[in-house]
Amino acid sequence: MNLDDQKKAAADAAIEYVVDDTIIGVGTGSTANHFIDSLAAIKHRIKGTVASSEASAARLKSHGIQVLDLNEVDEISVYVDGADESNAQLHLIKGGGGALTREKIVLSVAKKFVCVADSSKLVDVLGDFPLPVEVIPMARSCVARELVKLGGRPVLREGFITDNGNIILDVHNLRIMEALKLESELNQIVGVVTNGLFARQPADVLLLGTEQGVRTVKPA
Ligand code: A5P
Repeated sequence: MNLDDQKKAAADAAIEYVVDDTIIGVGTGSTANHFIDSLAAIKHRIKGTVASSEASAARLKSHGIQVLDLNEVDEISVYVDGADESNAQLHLIKGGGGALTREKIVLSVAKKFVCVADSSKLVDVLGDFPLPVEVIPMARSCVARELVKLGGRPVLREGFITDNGNIILDVHNLRIMEALKLESELNQIVGVVTNGLFARQPADVLLLGTEQGVRTVKPA
């Protein structure tokens, strides 16, 4: 199985976690896209979805799946999304696709987080994948200086604007041993909208596509 087949297998397995007659939170990225395509087959069983990006909303609608505004929704039964890295605690780095802020917002309303990924995403230590930080454009330089003080090497994601009209700084050179602490510290920097560490609300389960099939990983 190549990595894309593994993503698809993991996304298919997430269908088991869909709760009938409820609203489903939908992530962003190539693995989430596989989930959206699989969800189309059972769309009659759910009340609707909330999307974490314009791209996912468009894909959901192209399948005739209802997309609701989060402000109309009290509760999401399950949030399904990919990740760029996961450690054994299921603390994640997300935001490779730049949708981290809306992903974190939709997740915050969900009762359960099912992460779907290929085998390359499970790592011992987070940080080889540059950590995305969404920043208000006028704060680009001052936030970058603060990120350097924390030991990172921020790089502006060229030619990219988030769905919220902001920029992304991808922070290289981090070896993240205390994800929960760093997630809070980064969010204290004035001008940061949010960062791509998902440790305060980690995944509840990671469905990991592997050569041998889909592995269900619970937090260590
Ligand atoms: C989108 O902003 C990200 O958080 C994605 O969930 C993450 O980058 C994983 O993407 P893939 O499923 O494309 O690997």
